[in-house]
Amino acid sequence: MRARDAELIVTDDEESAAKQVAELLAEAARAGSEIALTGGSTPGRAYELAADLEPDWSGAGVWWGDERCVPPDDERSNFGLARRTLLDRLEAHPGRVHRIRGEDEPAAAAASYDQELRGTTLDLLLLGLGPDGHVASLFPNSPGLTETERLAIPAEAKLDPFVERVTLTPPALRSARRIVFLVTGEQKAEAVAGVLAGPPDPAVPGSLIRAESGETLAILDQKAASRLRD
Ligand code: 6PG
Repeated sequence: MRARDAELIVTDDEESAAKQVAELLAEAARAGSEIALTGGSTPGRAYELAADLEPDWSGAGVWWGDERCVPPDDERSNFGLARRTLLDRLEAHPGRVHRIRGEDEPAAAAASYDQELRGTTLDLLLLGLGPDGHVASLFPNSPGLTETERLAIPAEAKLDPFVERVTLTPPALRSARRIVFLVTGEQKAEAVAGVLAGPPDPAVPGSLIRAESGETLAILDQKAASRLRD
């Protein structure tokens, strides 16, 4: 199987993909890295396994690639997902937790996150992938895809949950030293093929996101990789 400007790891099943990501997260935490987490339903298991592998994240900084504009205790919150599956399971919390303030007005939350992130390079950026090819909260053909200056912007959701978002922009995502896509399941296979094997296309936002001067890795289970050809 081949991918454009990205390395592939294809695992037998979802649990093995989660284990691969957990190892990278644990290694990054041990190294005191700046780590950006993703939301959604896929990464939770990887976060649980990462907490088991490395319970001491005191040297690490944690960020988010995007957030739903809801309070942190709302079940749709990406921070809330990480708190339940990772942070609350650690013996030593990350030394730096940079939560996107989903409870604030989106433009204000985005502007303050932009300032908070400016000057920091992410060492590891974890990204999920929507069935429409969106990454973070950069949806197909959305205005945020052409952003060149800001690092974080408000965004309108085009998929459930239909709440306003704050998302990192393509320049912010591409500046990461290592981008790791974690994608599992047959329902993502079409999007995976577009993102990893297709040309850069604003209709498939993930196809526009590769580490500019770092490495891009895609960790997929067989089902998600099933449309990738040799
Ligand atoms: C979010 C995520 C989003 C997610 C994809 C895949 O806020 O929802 O950041 O980009 O990674 O939508 O979500 P699933 O893992 O639930 O399929």
